Amino acid sequence: MTSAERGFWCVVPAAGRGRRFGGDRPKQHVEIAGKSLLGWTLERLASHPSIVGIVVVVAHDDASAGVETVFNGKRLLNVTGGEERADSVLAGLHGLPDSVADSDFVLVHDAARPCVRHADISALIERGMAAGGALLASPLRDTLKRADASGHVIETEPRESRWRALTPQMFRRAELMAALESARDDGVIVSDEAMAMERAGFKPLLVEGSDDNIKLTTPADRAFLEYLLKRKWGVGSGE
Ligand code: CTP
Ligand code: MG
Repeated sequence: MTSAERGFWCVVPAAGRGRRFGGDRPKQHVEIAGKSLLGWTLERLASHPSIVGIVVVVAHDDASAGVETVFNGKRLLNVTGGEERADSVLAGLHGLPDSVADSDFVLVHDAARPCVRHADISALIERGMAAGGALLASPLRDTLKRADASGHVIETEPRESRWRALTPQMFRRAELMAALESARDDGVIVSDEAMAMERAGFKPLLVEGSDDNIKLTTPADRAFLEYLLKRKWGVGSGE
């Protein structure tokens, strides 16, 4: 059986402290439009028909660490994360059940991106399998400026060929683990899975995804996310 026939597991890093967002608790636990950010994200993933299980990577002091449960009919495992996002993703990959083969594709999706669309997940899976690995991304639409230390423009950079990396990102389990371990051993902090794969010589495919798959990063993102979650998607809707 291939991973497509077995269905896909998703690793959800949710062990960050949310420093840029601030507040008295990590942003993944902040309630928006009646539900925690993590709750929205898990619901969106678990309701996708191709996803069979989710590993949520939680902070070491999170009460759910080590707990296995069922969420919307899908297996959900909670494992403890690490200092950097890449450490948490690696912990999540280690925490996958043995039924996930080394060559199986695994998705990685930020807990802080609750608006990912089912159609984008489907496109990522389909095109990512053919390409040997892929990520959702969005082409830059604004004019790009390089600034000096005082905030004045030095020059205008070409916008062509520049993309914003989103999640989910999808790679083969063992290849991604080896790439993340290699980056860690070399002392390189990778900000996403694709960066680790690029270092390892892969050329991940960019799959254009919806612009509104935004990440809750600063307090300014909150109002827009709340609008998206309330207006465009009812509970359980993936579109
Ligand atoms: N994350 C994680 N483990 C870490 C750091 C980040 O699991 N050591 C997760 C976050 O919980 C989030 C995702 O990775 O779901 C994306 O990271 P980011 O938006 O940077 O979240 P934080 O690191 O929590 O925020 P900040 O960088 O502002 O502190
Ligand atoms: Mg961070």
